[in-house]
Amino acid sequence: MPPRTTPRGGGRRDPVDAANARRTLEDEERRGLAEIGSAADLTTLEAAETSLFGRKSAFQEVQRSLGSLGDDERREIGRRTNEVRDGLRRAIAARREALEADRERQLLDADRVDVTLPGRRPRPGSLHPLTIVEYEIVEIFTSMGYRVVEGPEVETEYYNFDALNIPPEHPARRVSDSIYLDVAGHADLLLRTETSAMQIRTMEKQRPPVYVIAPGRVYRNEDVTAKNMPVFHQVEGLAVDEGITFADLKGTLEAFYQALLGDRRVRFTPSFFPFVEPGLSAGALCFVCDGTGCPTCGFEGWFEMMGAGMVHPNVLRGVGYDPERYTGFAFGGGYDRLAMARFNIPDIRMLWEGDVRFLGRFEAAR
Ligand code: DAH
Repeated sequence: MPPRTTPRGGGRRDPVDAANARRTLEDEERRGLAEIGSAADLTTLEAAETSLFGRKSAFQEVQRSLGSLGDDERREIGRRTNEVRDGLRRAIAARREALEADRERQLLDADRVDVTLPGRRPRPGSLHPLTIVEYEIVEIFTSMGYRVVEGPEVETEYYNFDALNIPPEHPARRVSDSIYLDVAGHADLLLRTETSAMQIRTMEKQRPPVYVIAPGRVYRNEDVTAKNMPVFHQVEGLAVDEGITFADLKGTLEAFYQALLGDRRVRFTPSFFPFVEPGLSAGALCFVCDGTGCPTCGFEGWFEMMGAGMVHPNVLRGVGYDPERYTGFAFGGGYDRLAMARFNIPDIRMLWEGDVRFLGRFEAAR
């Protein structure tokens, strides 16, 4: 870098004499006050300070030259040097204080909370359509005096099949229909295929009267389609008491459907399930086609809702209940399709995707 011959501000560096020194001091004072006054931040202010008083500054040069002046001039220039320097230092200190205060204010401003701004509204969660239907089912039955019980989703063949009077050769037991667990030493473990297992677990634990429902997940070895998932939901019901008849079963289911579906027509047809005798199937007039037949109801006009029947004496005996004294009814059915019908959901997979844009649309009817 070539040596700087012309210092900033244009102060002169020619052979020092008193006149030169005076002029330099005046130039530096003017330049200094201007630079200090216009320094917009602390960094610029420090740079100005360095250029005014640094080793190579005109100021230092004047000071160094004092020795070569005569006594009077030295005193005069020396005093003037002090004056100018003190003035500039005061200006710097004042400016620094102002800039620091500015910075403080800016930090506070950046931090300021505008209490007049509208608040951010938290997005309220909503119930899953399946949960809505489940709550409704629970409410209907608890208002009739039923208790809600829950049980394990991993079951033994004993609870899922044997105790329910399901014979060893029954097709539901096949690996192609049921999902068995691969646990060494526990070949009898499977994901429950029906909530009916809860009938047994409940009766084992208590004496009649029994009035319970058991909602929950069940699993079957099914392909995923628009209408089927390998996991779905059932609600089981069980009533065991003295003197319970088929008329009680019918009345209970009719009251249930009336509460859940209003005046939609429901029909009962004879059916077979190993753990009830007699057994029935309950169907509702199809929600989609109103009975004329469509793909949703398999062109039946009716929508399969649940299986039910009078608890088989073998089942009662198996849990130590005397079938001569106690009778009961049981029912069980899926409610994924009920939720689909209720909320016009065309594809069962939508219930599992967890898309909040979809899930936020459903509201309980009451
Ligand atoms: N567990 C049966 C199924 O999953 C449904 C069922 C039928 C439940 C008759 C019952 C019943 O309680 O009595 O297909």
